[in-house]
Amino acid sequence: MENLHPETAAIAAGRPERIDGAGLNVPISLNSTFLPGGIGYGRYGNQTWEALEETITALEEGQSTLAFASGMSAIAAVFSLLPHGAPVVASNQGYSGTMSLLKKYHEQGRLEVRFVDIANTPDVFEALMGAAFLWIESPTNPTLEVAELALIIGEAKKRNLGVAVDNTFATALSQKPLVMGADISMNSVTKYLSGHSDVLLGSLTMRDPALHARLLEARSLLGGIPGPFECWIALRGIRTFPLRFRAAEKNAQDLLARLKAHPAIERVRYPGFGAIISFDLAADASQTEQVCASSQLIAHATSLGGVESTWERRRRWPAESLSVPESLIRLSVGCEHVDDLWADISQALNSI
Ligand SMILES: Cc1ncc(COP(=O)(O)O)c(C=O)c1O
Repeated sequence: MENLHPETAAIAAGRPERIDGAGLNVPISLNSTFLPGGIGYGRYGNQTWEALEETITALEEGQSTLAFASGMSAIAAVFSLLPHGAPVVASNQGYSGTMSLLKKYHEQGRLEVRFVDIANTPDVFEALMGAAFLWIESPTNPTLEVAELALIIGEAKKRNLGVAVDNTFATALSQKPLVMGADISMNSVTKYLSGHSDVLLGSLTMRDPALHARLLEARSLLGGIPGPFECWIALRGIRTFPLRFRAAEKNAQDLLARLKAHPAIERVRYPGFGAIISFDLAADASQTEQVCASSQLIAHATSLGGVESTWERRRRWPAESLSVPESLIRLSVGCEHVDDLWADISQALNSI
């Protein structure tokens, strides 16, 4: 069937053919090599990867997806396609791994990166002049700035730039970069799509077969391939992704007003959708650490997008941008009962 709703696509896509006696789920294909006439070698393809890829393609409304060993290996494969010294426009705030990679490439002269405030559309437009590629993260990690995605993508495509969007925080349930004209929608599948804090995986979804061929070659040659077991676990998780994401988003929206009213909190950041909330405490770094360490239900841990809520002071990581306040806590709201979450948050806030 065509044009399935995301709740249905997440469940129906990536299934084996319905023939007599077939299982409902693809097997975990543990093969490094194959007899002639098919995949050939385990670095080029795998039946279990393909089932996950098909499901992400359906959610993102793309034509094809490539799964990678992690979100970072997917991101690195994209940049590997750019010629030496290519001018790239990228957000000046974003996931610290992406930022570190871009800064390193810039210092090495491998890319000429123009860092911009992605929420400042006129500044982004100006930076696009003469550029070859646009990398957008929106909302940004961890400060949750939101780009005018459709406008920026439209302008970049008018100027013939390649465009990739890191869709990890928003997910295809909140925005569909390919529908807006982007060439690539990237996901850290580690987060919401898998949803249980038990695997690392990444994905790139696209519509252009020629781009797919280039990225497939990059994956095959650079070797950032996913494990079949990880893909199977992610596939199991993705079946409930829309349910989990909506439940977590509802929890986040319920928590917003309570957080805003709390006297220990100076500023609450929320992009209007999704289940990540960042907030700045009226406190110093060590008091902020104390709040995070005082939680009994919320895991004091990095990462996000699991059924279990997690939080952390982002500046505890040396790679985090200095523009992120010392007292900023990034809270990934999970699927627990919202009143239990609030009871935990308020007791932790009251510990300082
Ligand atoms: C927005 C965003 N993009 C990319 C990544 C990298 O993904 P992975 O950890 O799966 O390599 C992360 C990880 O936290 C992220 O938050």
